[in-house]
Amino acid sequence: MKILFYDTKSYDQKSFETTRNAYPEIEIEYLKSDLEPRTAALADGFDAVCAFVSSDVGTQTLEILHTKGVKLILLRSAGYNNVDMDTAHKYDIRVMRVPGYSPEAVAEHAMALALACNRRLYKAYNKVRENDFSLSGLMGFNLYQKTAGIIGTGKIGAAMCRICHGFGMKVIAYDVYENESLKDFVEYVSLEKVLAESDLISLHCPLMDSTYHMIQLDTIKQMKDGVILINTSRGALVKTEDLIEGIRMHKFAGVGLDVYEEETDNVFEDRSDEILEHSTTARLLSFPNVMITSHQGFFTREALQAIAETTLQNAMDYMSGKKSPNDVD
Ligand code: NAI
Repeated sequence: MKILFYDTKSYDQKSFETTRNAYPEIEIEYLKSDLEPRTAALADGFDAVCAFVSSDVGTQTLEILHTKGVKLILLRSAGYNNVDMDTAHKYDIRVMRVPGYSPEAVAEHAMALALACNRRLYKAYNKVRENDFSLSGLMGFNLYQKTAGIIGTGKIGAAMCRICHGFGMKVIAYDVYENESLKDFVEYVSLEKVLAESDLISLHCPLMDSTYHMIQLDTIKQMKDGVILINTSRGALVKTEDLIEGIRMHKFAGVGLDVYEEETDNVFEDRSDEILEHSTTARLLSFPNVMITSHQGFFTREALQAIAETTLQNAMDYMSGKKSPNDVD
């Protein structure tokens, strides 16, 4: 089986090549370009393409892949909101993903952002490097005995609940389905109650029509003053313009984002003044209590290895015609 691997970074190639030794049936060609309508035709002659969260697997891309005979999209990510599933079904293109490669990797990063925002670690780091050992502007609050509000308690949200519980926090959560394994230490409440009572709110639900812009002015106004908001899920769960308004209203002690709405627009690759002037992400970065990382929640050794193993096993399941829990339906 021949796979064309898009948007290859050196660490991807390393983890996939190491893992591929156990799969002699699979050949992989690595491309630096990401998958989008302009690059889809390069998959001519390949059985499958391997894509990532930044890939544009929309209608046009799928139409081109279909004409080139591609039958399988291997997503090396959990989220699949970048795939037009109606078009994939129409052309009988199977889409497989890696649903839970390392929930702890993302949850630990969510807590790292919360701690860094709360204790102003980015500011402290810079101050000390400038020989300024004063504590002004660095005061945070204890997480111990405060309330963590977790929105979405699937694999990553559950790991975040366990971490917050370990910090001695009261953990409340909102999800459309309750996770039985958390019942001993998590209290399920309404979304309104999570918003109103939490000192730390962390988002762990997928991006869907029902969750798009779930954090906007109305929901922000329901939050406690001085709350810390963390988003490691998908940028569009938060309406950025409204978040900026909330920050201006001094609603937040800190905001930590690993994902942001403009992620796929290459805002920071094309650094023209005009683009940056209109970029909501650049505006967010101008606030001293906002910390943004570049979608690195998943980025640990263990997670990369698990991604490679599951993706190649997905390819094997496709070849043997097996149905898989990793199929996106
Ligand atoms: P999961 O599928 O295990 O859990 C998602 C949970 O959200 C489920 O329990 C579901 O019932 C819940 N949910 C669905 N609709 C909801 C709603 N309207 N309100 C509240 N909860 C709702 O997914 P997992 O593995 O925990 O991943 C969560 C998200 O994290 C992914 O969808 C992805 O967007 C993001 N992610 C981010 C990464 C990063 O590097 N920053 C890496 C991997 C995933």
